[in-house]
Amino acid sequence: MNLKMLAAYEAGDEIKDGQIIGLGTGSTTHYFIEKIGMRIQEEGISVMGVPTSYQSFILAKQWKIPLTTLEEHDVDIAVDGADEIDPDFNLIKGGGGAHTLEKIVDYSAEELIIIADDSKKVNKLGKFPVPLEIIHQSTKLVFDSLKDMGGEPKIRMATEKDGPVISDNGNFIIDVNFGEIDNPIQLEKDLNSIPGVVENGIFSQMVDKVILGTSNGVEVLK
Ligand code: 5RP
Repeated sequence: MNLKMLAAYEAGDEIKDGQIIGLGTGSTTHYFIEKIGMRIQEEGISVMGVPTSYQSFILAKQWKIPLTTLEEHDVDIAVDGADEIDPDFNLIKGGGGAHTLEKIVDYSAEELIIIADDSKKVNKLGKFPVPLEIIHQSTKLVFDSLKDMGGEPKIRMATEKDGPVISDNGNFIIDVNFGEIDNPIQLEKDLNSIPGVVENGIFSQMVDKVILGTSNGVEVLK
């Protein structure tokens, strides 16, 4: 079992019959969704998922996980991945460009569990650039504002399509290098105050528990 799978399967085992689950996006949550699908088949648990992207929607469908929406159900527990996790459980997310819906679903959940391999643990956020989803017409305004804030923004380019990555919501994704981030809580607020920014990938003060896959087994941080 690889380290992502280790963390994801542990989180999958914590899900209780009857829960409404936020289904995060990425290669780690891929294993979590797989585990929920297996538990439905093998144990007959009755749960429903709220997907955070086309990726998690398609995967949940493949595993025959019944789906619902935030309008229809309150989310009991969300399980999501991260690109960086600091000691106060502030995160950088959005490596998969899905951070807008992830933040909405994760924030709506009664409990948020982050699953990752232990390479995602950092002392300070900022080695990984901060993803921003932006309305494309705002690109110049957003870039100028980010440069004034000390950031180095870049439009994320697609690899199997010419031109930029387009998010599930039809927007540009940009990645901003700020270097080490001293105050992620403030930066999260400041980034969302720029007109044209739909959502940024800093998730502060939201996480209840982190489950890490390590070479010595599972490490749970609370
Ligand atoms: C997607 C995300 C992912 O959860 C994050 O990028 C971690 O991905 P992975 O599990 O593949 O390392 O935020 O927008």
